[in-house]
Amino acid sequence: MASLLFSPLTIKNRTFKNRIVISPMCQYSAEDGFANNWHLVHLGSRAVGGAGLIIQEATAVSPEGRISPEDLGIWKDEHVQKLKEINAFILSQNAIPGIQIAHAGRKASVSAPWKGNKKLDKTQGGWQTVSASAIGYHDEEQTTALDQNGIQKVVTDFKAAAKRAVDAGFQVLEIHAAHGYLLHQFLSPLSNERTDKYGGSFENRIRLTLEIVEAVQTEWPLDLPLFVRISASDWAEGGWNLQESIQLAAILKQKGVDLIDVSSGGLVSHQKIAVGPNYQVSFSENIKKGADIKTSAVGLITEAQQAETILQENQADLIMFGRESLRNPNLPLDFAALLNDDIQWPKQYERAK
Ligand code: FNR
Repeated sequence: MASLLFSPLTIKNRTFKNRIVISPMCQYSAEDGFANNWHLVHLGSRAVGGAGLIIQEATAVSPEGRISPEDLGIWKDEHVQKLKEINAFILSQNAIPGIQIAHAGRKASVSAPWKGNKKLDKTQGGWQTVSASAIGYHDEEQTTALDQNGIQKVVTDFKAAAKRAVDAGFQVLEIHAAHGYLLHQFLSPLSNERTDKYGGSFENRIRLTLEIVEAVQTEWPLDLPLFVRISASDWAEGGWNLQESIQLAAILKQKGVDLIDVSSGGLVSHQKIAVGPNYQVSFSENIKKGADIKTSAVGLITEAQQAETILQENQADLIMFGRESLRNPNLPLDFAALLNDDIQWPKQYERAK
């Protein structure tokens, strides 16, 4: 019998040929936000390797929304051309190209991991960061609370990014509201101490995320899948939690969001994460069942049977692979063999099957 991992899934007007997704992963290899041949080869290899959906790394909606100066961006029309070329290649391999659009908020302006992941000041090519409140990620860090105009600009930037994503030929759009970046900074009471309509109650803390979903939907075609990545828990006392995640997911479903990409953590440095295989899968299962919405599971899922069991147990609809897909770009081709699924290989590689 065919596995669930290699069975297709249709969301709105798109069918993924299997349930394997390449999780968005920053490459810190862009200049001024522009994609280049690194991104083409990195993403292209994983399309050749058989993934159904490939989600491009957190792509900044504005220059100040980048994590590092080398993040991909989609804040100007000139960014579109190379992305279009990459997407055409991904589509030629019968895979679907997706994009994660993002704003890093207070976690912006740091150097790439291999340059030390250090906060950059203006003399080092860094910039002033913004957040929900003037509370730095680390105590010694300083950030500026967005005013009403600043919030409006963020919403407009996400909307413009969605329009460019359409122009670039992406077929799945994911809004990044996880990992302690700007939208998560508004969601969590640990980083949001606002007293206006964007802070305080649950309804106020989720307001910016909902406004962005609505703005994006004015540009993103209604027949293409729309995902939101959230952190289901801050793993810290008094933080954003699973119950709020389920509530938010139910509201997002009402608004027309198709899938919640369920991750966790990243908001505060004192988080205590219980890391291990499948460590975020129960969050996915609870959100899927609690809000009656499709979910993807991610986080230390590294084996074929492990992924298959998550699907069999109805804990998620899609499985995302991060680091394991960096180790092995042909992970889907290998997993199909392990699960005895006879999938099509790229014709150029057939003699290796
Ligand atoms: C990531 N991750 C990540 N997440 C995200 O939402 N947007 C991003 O741009 C990135 N960037 C990124 C870069 C690199 C190099 C890594 C390793 C990870 C997190 C990633 O998508 C995934 O959720 C985690 O890595 C957990 O899954 P794995 O790696 O255990 O399969």
